[in-house]
Amino acid sequence: MKIVTCTAPVNIAVIKYWGKRDEKLILPLNDSISFTLSQDEMCAKTTVAISPNFSEDKFWLNGKEESLENPRIQNCLKEIRRRASKRKMNGFDDEMLNWHIHVCSANNFPTAAGLASSAAGYACLVSALGSVYGVEGDLSVISRQGSGSACRSIYGGLVRWYKGEQTDGSDSFAKTIAPPDHWPNTRVIICIVNAGRKKTPSTEGMRRSVATSSLMEYRVQTSVVNRVNKIMQAINEKDWSMFCDITMADSNEMHAVCQDTFPPCVYMTDTSQAITSLVYQYNEIKMANKEDHHKICYTFDAGPNACLFVPGEVAEEVMNLVVTAFPPKPTQALDEYIRGEKPSNSE
Ligand code: PMV
Repeated sequence: MKIVTCTAPVNIAVIKYWGKRDEKLILPLNDSISFTLSQDEMCAKTTVAISPNFSEDKFWLNGKEESLENPRIQNCLKEIRRRASKRKMNGFDDEMLNWHIHVCSANNFPTAAGLASSAAGYACLVSALGSVYGVEGDLSVISRQGSGSACRSIYGGLVRWYKGEQTDGSDSFAKTIAPPDHWPNTRVIICIVNAGRKKTPSTEGMRRSVATSSLMEYRVQTSVVNRVNKIMQAINEKDWSMFCDITMADSNEMHAVCQDTFPPCVYMTDTSQAITSLVYQYNEIKMANKEDHHKICYTFDAGPNACLFVPGEVAEEVMNLVVTAFPPKPTQALDEYIRGEKPSNSE
């Protein structure tokens, strides 16, 4: 028997991936850039075991048994096994490729609530599979085939997913563009507006946006290309204020595309919008005081929950502000989440 346990952190995109050019290989229409959080924050933990004594494949997600026949999991598994069969290293025995597999995975945060759970989950699964089958090298291309954004969670720090040009996806990989300590004192505040599952899964939302949104065309051909170049400059020059502005602009544009989709994908709620107002007001005060380096920014994935990037010096101040403006209510969803039950959709 061989058994491996891995953890993989969540990554939060500052330039969003929204839209695929190839659904099967999961090839994006644009480059995206993200921050990978540290391992001890929001993460997925996965154990993979293979044994000649297992009589069938099995998979548990957050304590519940699910089918391993999910095509995306199977794509990752097939690709890892294909690479393993080529390597035959470290005493790897071909026979192991025929052993049944057990996978047990859990997230320490709400699943499918627009908090990048699939990114951490697939990055973790592919890393664990890679260790079990002795596959080395870049695993981002494989984890991309589980969930696009997962390729960015393979690496730490600020990470860029290059969309690539090839039709086989061989050049659509992720790479660290700045180390985790690039902005060493950055804190991330996640504001859980609703811990329930998102109404429109990102795959469905992206498909609809590509098919119906004319703003999407402008985004892919013009605005996101310019924004990627500008944020690369902001990162290289450590211009935090510019980084914040571009991050918010890109989140706004992704959600504008979602609104422009027919029928629209509405992920942000009134509470999400109120959080954006709070951030703008806060930044106005900081800029008036010539404290641009203490600016904060928000970004929203395919859900109503806000992710705030905050300089450490003002983290406590911002936390107090958020809690004062949005006093935590023991909503049903939050209650259920704390009790470890499947949350309902109430805000
Ligand atoms: O990787 P997916 O299919 O879960 O898509 C994620 C898309 C966003 O989270 C909305 C944006 C991103 O770049 O992570």
